[in-house]
Amino acid sequence: MGILVPPGQHACLVRRRCGGCAGMAAGQGTSGLSSADGIRHTGGMEPAVSNPPQWQGLALIAHGANRVCVRDPQDAALCLKFELPANERTRVGLRQRVRRWLGMRMGYFGENQTELRAYRKLRARLGDALDGWVARCHGLAMTRAGVALQCECVLQEDGRPARSLYSHLFETTGHDPAALCGAIDRMEAWLLRNNVPLFDLNAGNLVVSSRAGQVELVCVDAKSVISGKEILPFSRWSRVLMHRKLRRRAQRLRQRVAAALADGPALAGRAPPH
Ligand SMILES: Nc1ncnc2c1ncn2[C@@H]1O[C@H](COP(=O)(O)OP(=O)(O)OP(=O)(O)O)[C@@H](O)[C@H]1O
Ligand SMILES: [Mg+2]
Repeated sequence: MGILVPPGQHACLVRRRCGGCAGMAAGQGTSGLSSADGIRHTGGMEPAVSNPPQWQGLALIAHGANRVCVRDPQDAALCLKFELPANERTRVGLRQRVRRWLGMRMGYFGENQTELRAYRKLRARLGDALDGWVARCHGLAMTRAGVALQCECVLQEDGRPARSLYSHLFETTGHDPAALCGAIDRMEAWLLRNNVPLFDLNAGNLVVSSRAGQVELVCVDAKSVISGKEILPFSRWSRVLMHRKLRRRAQRLRQRVAAALADGPALAGRAPPH
């Protein structure tokens, strides 16, 4: 694949060039761009929903530490993820700073291409068994706000984007801790059954949806399947270590759910980072 984000097309540069992309919300300039570079190009950028918060004229879903996720104005079933410029990202340690530095210079190491590779690797191995557990990544798309990763937008039953587990813990939730922990149990069992080394089980990488009337979690960021913090990734080489680590991560997440929802409003305003 190896698609590099053209320097002039990075979200922050494009924003400057098109004056905040004010025209996008008004649906101006829908001609589309050449597709000779292998990146899918999208044309018009009218927001699909009225009055949601906006990012560059697009309906905002949520911010992560490194990217912003917005609705695809051309298809309500999809979302677009843009890598943020350095000054809009959260602070991280040295190793992650190095990775970000590389990612901003070489698209291959960026969050979007890493997530796409991780998803494709899983898809090649597990096929349709991924559906319902990991949001589909369709590919890179060239938009007027820069290059984006185009993914399935996980939706709630009312058609709005599913909210992250993080937002259920630190903003509002209609679910009790037992139901959310049950969903973590099922995600953990699925990961173990399929030997999926999704180690970054943080509450921002999972969204809460429902299937057959039951609350379920869907992974919206599978980067950690191929990119980890260890220098020698023993837990990817050994199935026993992989399972042990997955169980630890799931248990830590259940504890976080229990702690956040037990303390409830006491935690408001001091949510930990994703
Ligand atoms: N496919 C999707 N469907 C619905 N919402 C999504 C989707 N992908 C991302 N989101 C929303 O965007 C948020 C941030 O997404 P994501 O984890 O991909 O960004 P990130 O910057 O890589 O995060 P971090 O670096 O903090 O892990 C999620 O918590 C979720 O609310
Ligand atoms: Mg993430």
